[in-house]
Amino acid sequence: MATIKVHDKFFETYLPEEVIQKRIKELADTISNDYKGRKPLFIAILNGSFMFAADLFKHLTIEAEICFIKLASYKGMKSSGNVVTSIGLEDDLFGKEVIIVEDIVDTGKTLHNFLPKLEHQQPKSMKIATLLHKSEAIEYPLNLDYVGFDIPNKFVVGYGLDYDGLGRNLKEIYQLV
Ligand code: IMP
Repeated sequence: MATIKVHDKFFETYLPEEVIQKRIKELADTISNDYKGRKPLFIAILNGSFMFAADLFKHLTIEAEICFIKLASYKGMKSSGNVVTSIGLEDDLFGKEVIIVEDIVDTGKTLHNFLPKLEHQQPKSMKIATLLHKSEAIEYPLNLDYVGFDIPNKFVVGYGLDYDGLGRNLKEIYQLV
């Protein structure tokens, strides 16, 4: 098990690359099966979900669209939870089969605040795919349709997730020691 330092904190390996990749392939297979004959639109929430969204998307065996949007809610190690607005949502969601792609659902506040804005556009359906879920930390219950890993309520970095801007490039996911 490797220990790394990001800024002032130490983290140790929690999910190795092969484990992450195997699980993402399983999620992509499930989604491809569930959406056979439909053309879902994946809405990936930046910055954290960029790696997960790319790996998930490449394993799909169905036709699908993807777009990336940005919300702001997290500073340092604590979620501020106040989603101000989204940037980059150009698609009209009316009648679309939407799948939101998140890196991690922690308290659930980000999606809880944001989903009504999407629902307002009357998509035909809306599901959520998240790589990680801290189920112990949830304060705003959400219906999560596709979950990669349910993880303990400890801060993690890597595979798109950051600690104050750093750690996103790591291929593995590391947990705070
Ligand atoms: P929520 O609104 O509390 O569910 O937080 C969601 C957002 O907080 C995620 O999209 C991440 O950007 C960030 N976040 C939550 N937990 C962690 C973590 O352990 N490491 C890095 N970012 C996190």
